[in-house]
Amino acid sequence: MASVASLSASLQQRVSAALAAAVPSATDADPLLRRSDRADFQANGVLGLAKKAKANPRELAGAVVAGLPADELIAGVEVSGPGFLNITVSDAAITSTLAARAADERLGVPAKEHPGITVVDYAQPNVAKEMHVGHLRSSVIGDAICKVLEFSGEQVVRRHHIGDWGTQFGMLVQYLIEHPHELDHGTDEKDAGEASMSRLDRLYKASGALFKSDEGFKERARRRVVDLQAGDPETLALWQRFVDESKIYFDSVYGKLDIEIRDEDIVGESGYNDMLAETCELLEKSGVAVWSNGALCVFFDDVKGKDGEPVPLIVRKTDGGYGYAATDLSAIRNRTGALHADTLLYVVDVRQTLHFRMVFETARRAGWLTDDVTARHLPFGTLLGRDGKPFKTRAGESVKLEDLLDEAVQRATAVVREKGEKIGLTEEEIVSNGEQVGIGAVKYADLSTSLGKDYVFDLDRMVSLNGDTSVYVQYAYARTRSIFRKAAGDQRAVAHPELALEPAERALGLHLDAFGETLAEVAEVYEPHRLAAYLFQLASLFTTFYEQCPVLTADGGPAQVESRLFLCELTARTLRQGLSLLGIRTPERL
Ligand code: ARG
Repeated sequence: MASVASLSASLQQRVSAALAAAVPSATDADPLLRRSDRADFQANGVLGLAKKAKANPRELAGAVVAGLPADELIAGVEVSGPGFLNITVSDAAITSTLAARAADERLGVPAKEHPGITVVDYAQPNVAKEMHVGHLRSSVIGDAICKVLEFSGEQVVRRHHIGDWGTQFGMLVQYLIEHPHELDHGTDEKDAGEASMSRLDRLYKASGALFKSDEGFKERARRRVVDLQAGDPETLALWQRFVDESKIYFDSVYGKLDIEIRDEDIVGESGYNDMLAETCELLEKSGVAVWSNGALCVFFDDVKGKDGEPVPLIVRKTDGGYGYAATDLSAIRNRTGALHADTLLYVVDVRQTLHFRMVFETARRAGWLTDDVTARHLPFGTLLGRDGKPFKTRAGESVKLEDLLDEAVQRATAVVREKGEKIGLTEEEIVSNGEQVGIGAVKYADLSTSLGKDYVFDLDRMVSLNGDTSVYVQYAYARTRSIFRKAAGDQRAVAHPELALEPAERALGLHLDAFGETLAEVAEVYEPHRLAAYLFQLASLFTTFYEQCPVLTADGGPAQVESRLFLCELTARTLRQGLSLLGIRTPERL
């Protein structure tokens, strides 16, 4: 594994040195280098520096240019405007840098030398309940963040904080005791996940109705909660049946979604049960929490309700039960204490923003979160229907996740079939491509929007071959593969730094070189949409290259064919790696 310095990093270093040489007092002045339409890169750092040093910016720019080393990297520099540097890199430098990337398994992307430990809390559905679109977003975004972080070298611990604890389980377990056959499996079930969910749903509704109408049942259910929290074996065994039944359902949804959820990473609310009493005790002893109206509460100066009254974080309820906050606080103790995390991420709906603000602040006051630990809620917005309102079925019910995924696959299969029949795909290939394109479309639509934003779930747009979609990117990948299938035996991918590049080749090459920087940015700010945007741009640049530069019939002779095949190959590997970090597959033939 050899990491490769990008052209922009090499330039950055040279321009910094020239700035420092021109103004000796300016140690580490930032050249403010960025990609530009005028040249390959533009450096604007001279302006600020000139101001500081009270120098004429154009003169200073001239001195910086004179101070740049005459080596293979820079083909030309021009001073423009008040003192901008427009820098063109040489074709040879582009090709050699890309060749170094191609020689590395990781495409020259460096891995952190001092990785930290990040716990990512994502994909947290609730036991005995249907998953909804919010769970979809958390799963897709969280999975991509984990993958990008892992690729950066970070040590990632995944945590699926499923809702598997709380008073509703007293009701469910009690109902099951009184109706013992309700969770029995049928003999011939086609869709195990769906069947599990429908059993759970029926039980949930029936027990809820009884809880409302029957005082005796209500009382028995309440007592059952106490047994559950006290760890009564019979009660726990029945509770476990609900968890197991739900896992069948979760597995089937995650299977469709092509997201791997490992059993050992599922540590739901129940996993912290043993810590809850102690968490409350510690909060009480340290004075972080106080009793108010019979509940153990934490107060915040700046959190007030509409009536001006303070809104506390309730860690223990008046009935003695521990709620969501106590569990989250215990989870923080576990993650920083036992797991030694230095970063905690929570991929959760924007509606829980206040909850996390209060939980983090409480944990800081209690000393469970220190200055060495970063805790961040990564809130995501709401999925909207085409009417701009939160996504619902026509009947106004929340949409079943499985139905939504099935429909995406169906639509994608129709799109894939049309093309696939022309290029002679088998039925099997069409079906598998339809899945990869449909699920890719759902994930991409989710990941290409910046996290906080709401977005409209519009399948027609999502599976379109034109526009900012995963199909477009997948299609660019498939095109590279098709070029290689058509290549003659002696037409191979070889980098040729001695050859001049066409504008479309340069643009593609410069963008390929920026892959590592994009990933570093995504890992730093936890914004997968930047990777999606990078890949879409890569696919677009490849499309332009493909239209303007014949590959197998290049008129510059065999070396040019090899050189263009080399660009195709590196594009393919970059697209494939990038999409796979987003959890999106790359069909070979589309
Ligand atoms: N199960 C919760 C829900 O469906 C999300 C859990 C988020 N994670 C956490 N640590 N609180 O809303």
